Amino acid sequence: MPQVVGPLLHERDMYLAWSLKRSKAVNGSRCVVGVVGKGHLRGVLYHLVTPGSSGNLRFSNNGPFFTTNFGVPIANNNASLTVGSRGPVLLEDYQILEKIATFDREKIPERVVHARGAVAKGYFEVTDDITALSFADVFSEVGKKTDIIVRFSVVTGPSGSPEWLRDPRGFAIKFYTQQGNWDLVGNNIPVFFIRDGAQFPDLAHALKPSPVNHLSPGWRTADFLSYHPESMHMVTYLLDDVGIPADYRHMNGSSVNTYSLINKSGGVNLAKFRWVPSQGEKYLLDEDIGKVAMAHPDGSSASSDLYTAIDAKEYPEWYLYIQTIDPSASTTLAFDPLDPTKVWPEEQFPMRRVGKLVLNQNAGNFHNENEQLAFSPAHIVPGIGYSDDKLLQWRLVAYDDTQRYRIGPNFGLLPVNAPRCPVYTTRQDGPLNSANQTGAVNYYPSDFASQPLAAPYPVDNSSVGPAMRVRTVIDKTDNFSQAGARFRSFDSARQARFVKRLSGLLSSPMVTDGIVARWMSYLQQMDSSLASQVSSSVGSPKAAASPALGPAVMQSSTGRRMA
Ligand code: HEM
Repeated sequence: MPQVVGPLLHERDMYLAWSLKRSKAVNGSRCVVGVVGKGHLRGVLYHLVTPGSSGNLRFSNNGPFFTTNFGVPIANNNASLTVGSRGPVLLEDYQILEKIATFDREKIPERVVHARGAVAKGYFEVTDDITALSFADVFSEVGKKTDIIVRFSVVTGPSGSPEWLRDPRGFAIKFYTQQGNWDLVGNNIPVFFIRDGAQFPDLAHALKPSPVNHLSPGWRTADFLSYHPESMHMVTYLLDDVGIPADYRHMNGSSVNTYSLINKSGGVNLAKFRWVPSQGEKYLLDEDIGKVAMAHPDGSSASSDLYTAIDAKEYPEWYLYIQTIDPSASTTLAFDPLDPTKVWPEEQFPMRRVGKLVLNQNAGNFHNENEQLAFSPAHIVPGIGYSDDKLLQWRLVAYDDTQRYRIGPNFGLLPVNAPRCPVYTTRQDGPLNSANQTGAVNYYPSDFASQPLAAPYPVDNSSVGPAMRVRTVIDKTDNFSQAGARFRSFDSARQARFVKRLSGLLSSPMVTDGIVARWMSYLQQMDSSLASQVSSSVGSPKAAASPALGPAVMQSSTGRRMA
């Protein structure tokens, strides 16, 4: 924080008497940036310049008394400057004007999804060698530790919404690797509702509160999903007992999307990532909700659990596993490995352990380390690649785009988002650029800058053509096999709870016969006993109107090819 030294009569005397003398008392040098005030309030403004900060001016609460944002002393922080003791207030009351104007702007827009979340920091440690699969720095040797920050979240509610709702949970990790930041932005449930990012805004609108009254009636979800047979697999998680994680410490994580791993010879494997909690999994049944809600009137059941555990030095940990598929084998599989509505069967593609994630530090500043924390699946590092998964492909665009709007174009310079490895770019400008990067050569190439390019490294340059431009669904949709198999894997009590929740969703007076007919068609194709249980629970005439819908109807509902 700039500070004012005064009262003083002569600027030169001020500088000599105060600036130089007091400089010795602090760990840094200081520079005078101006003179303020009149008469006995006259003083000089100077900034602390911390060694090693590339000349950045550092603003922090280091002054001996209250000041304005610009370092002017505040002698009275309670009363407005008024005409007489009863007012009105004078516009020249800069001190309070600044205080209120700063408050007026102190929130950045909340995330459009995953608005409520909890953050913790720690490290990732490699436990098993996968260098034959990836040359990423983060996996380079067993025992290697990389700093990380994690943000867990609920998805559909606004920033103050309860954390005990039936909703997917976000599980996003930023690895500060020596070759740049890697963001692995996943969820707790290993599959997703849709397989093409073209439908994501509609999905989010249908699941989030109504634009009319901000209520969240189930019929909007039932309506939207009735046009998405590929969502049935996700429904078998969301309406199952695992649909409400008890907290963030006792839940799984998954990349959901398919990425690729690239080794130093350029060999490429498709890969999915999974997180398994060492503390085990815990979920809330419907009858537990009331108790949890009563105990956490602010809805913070999961955030407070995480914070309290770390504060008590009960550090949660997860093991990272990968599943891999050779891309050339992928065409022979019964399912498409680029389809995020599918899991890869573990008996065919075993989970392979990679490392351990430990959270041993709570975040100390919610705004700076949670609200301003910015993830993007596009942020990968050498040795890791994207895949052609059509959901992932749109995610690669959406996140940096939203960060530039939500935080600003220089969001990457904020300490929580900045890489911990050296950087060299031509970026100098843009709003709130704090890098203080100087020099005339902010372009490339130049005779005046000697910075070499990085040595080339293997990337996935496999062929994607020849092909036509199309808007279509993937060939192997198989919307129901895995969803049906999952329902059959539940014991009968668990099946009954699933049926009850699903029937409740479909029993709303707003859910039309047409919506139920589409659902019944899908349930029939998943498992006939599931269909008949839901049918008798929902009752006629709704469930009676359930003609089996043919593939053409389902194709068009997921985006049949258009001219
Ligand atoms: C095309 C599909 C998708 C789009 C367009 C999309 C878009 C977004 C956007 C705009 C945000 C807010 C980011 C922010 O403001 O910081 C977000 C957050 C998030 N998304 Fe997605 N999303 C998609 C699919 C998914 C999928 C499939 C997953 C799970 C694998 C996922 C997981 C997350 C998580 C965990 C966050 C919260 C990150 C944080 O904690 O800051 N999203 N998404």
